[in-house]
Amino acid sequence: MTPNNYREGMNTVDVTSLPQWMNLISHRVPGSIAELFAADPDRARTWQVTAGDLRIDFSKHQIDRPILDALIEVAGAMDVPGWRDAMMGGQAINSTEGRAVLHTALRAPRGSDLVIDGHDVMADVHEVRTAMAQYAQRIRTQVSAEGQITDVVNIGIGGSDLGPAMVTDALWAFGHRRIRSHFVSNVDGSEIVRTLRDLDPAHTLFIVVSKTFTTMETLMNAGTAREWLVAALGPDAVADHFAAVSTNLAAAAEFGIPAEQVFGFWDWVGGRYSVASAVGLSVMIAIGPDAFDEMCAGMHLIDRHFLEAPLADNAPVLLGLIGLWYVDVMGYGSKAVLPYAQELARFPAYLQQLDMESNGKSVRRDDRAVSVATGPVIWGEPGTNGQHAFYQLLHQGTQVIPVDFIGFATPGHMAATAPNPEVDGSVRHWDHHDALLANMFAQAEALAFGRLRPDSPHRSFAGDRPSTMILAPALTPSVLGQLIALYEHVVFVQGVIWGINSFDQWGVELGKELASGILSEITDPGVRRVSQRDGSTAAAIDWYRGRRR
Ligand code: F6P
Repeated sequence: MTPNNYREGMNTVDVTSLPQWMNLISHRVPGSIAELFAADPDRARTWQVTAGDLRIDFSKHQIDRPILDALIEVAGAMDVPGWRDAMMGGQAINSTEGRAVLHTALRAPRGSDLVIDGHDVMADVHEVRTAMAQYAQRIRTQVSAEGQITDVVNIGIGGSDLGPAMVTDALWAFGHRRIRSHFVSNVDGSEIVRTLRDLDPAHTLFIVVSKTFTTMETLMNAGTAREWLVAALGPDAVADHFAAVSTNLAAAAEFGIPAEQVFGFWDWVGGRYSVASAVGLSVMIAIGPDAFDEMCAGMHLIDRHFLEAPLADNAPVLLGLIGLWYVDVMGYGSKAVLPYAQELARFPAYLQQLDMESNGKSVRRDDRAVSVATGPVIWGEPGTNGQHAFYQLLHQGTQVIPVDFIGFATPGHMAATAPNPEVDGSVRHWDHHDALLANMFAQAEALAFGRLRPDSPHRSFAGDRPSTMILAPALTPSVLGQLIALYEHVVFVQGVIWGINSFDQWGVELGKELASGILSEITDPGVRRVSQRDGSTAAAIDWYRGRRR
């Protein structure tokens, strides 16, 4: 068998068996970051890459040119370009599920050409997008018999929640002023009860989002929402107040949602890669079809960059390789994403699913064990809040945690309007923003270069704590799309090099299956005592059974 069989998503190469890997790990950590800058006065300028509107500075890494070259050779040897082309060309690279991986098709412009097995994929994509736009526009403008929809509740979990919730929050300045967006994901009833408490059924639209339409949390929340609505407006109201997004059109119809309000997508869209599909319906209602198109155009810009830029200038490739160096060679198990933009508060959570559900794997495509560490733990909070919480550990803790800083020239609340203080009528906003950015620059500098105080080890900062800094003009729909696509492709690059399938998620199954059995044990009055489980689990279930209600 050839090492790469794109059609079946098969790769039998263990990266650690390659001479390029041997070369990579033979490199010693170069001098300090300060020494790297001193040795190369051009470093700030040359260790930078531009992708779309994103200016990505990767100079503050403890990596020198030979290491970077060795990393790029590893990417070439693992055939990152070949796998990238196979993905975007519609090969079934999701091997364990036998599916293509075509989220890039969701954001390709109208008129693009993608025919898979005789089927015009782009025609499907744009047919759904047009239907979404008509529906979204209707909700945004039309006053129904009971009045205008003022509240849209997205019911979904994982990729059917995190993408829409993150994007809606990030682009609030572009949002419809009279439509509020809500997101209910957790099976914990507190979330839906709290959300519904202040809503008026006559003015509320529920969008049930589930790729499979079998997800327990979503179906339970959707059922509760339907009961709440029916109790107030009667069963006929379901048709007007519910829409659905799913690949399982039959199940959505069975729930009682009229076919014209069910928006489909396809098995080649992974949940965590789905926000540009109909999964983004609540986003489109909030920001409007034009802004949604701009977000997709931003994603496409980075897709093109990923496709066309040579490896050495390719932002997702470079960032993927730097991340791989830290996880595999330096042994740094976590990475912080620190946006200096309150709008991106949910971005780290979004990236947690994107990265950790994609690359948290220990088995390769060829069923063998991965012989190096895969994906880091991703976490983070917006600055400056995090500075007053966990940055102590980033600066002086015993572990080194690489950081991604993300910042914008124009503040989020002004991104949707002309960035002119006179027009906006408030200079104070700029004061806030200057302070925000000053803090981001300061943190990156402090982490990289530190400051030693020979008289006090407690007040000393060792430095050499690496960071990437991503800057862009403003958090517009396009720039947000660019950021999303950038991180998607970083995850892809790493998955290819580790030889894993980044597009399945079997690791979530065991817990789901056990939960379903345990739920029966909890609720079945015929069960006297739980005995078929380990002692600890059985005792916890019995403890709860004795106390529920
Ligand atoms: O938790 C696993 C998972 O399948 C995620 O990958 C997915 O985004 C989420 O559940 C929700 O799935 P669905 O959209 O099918 O309800």
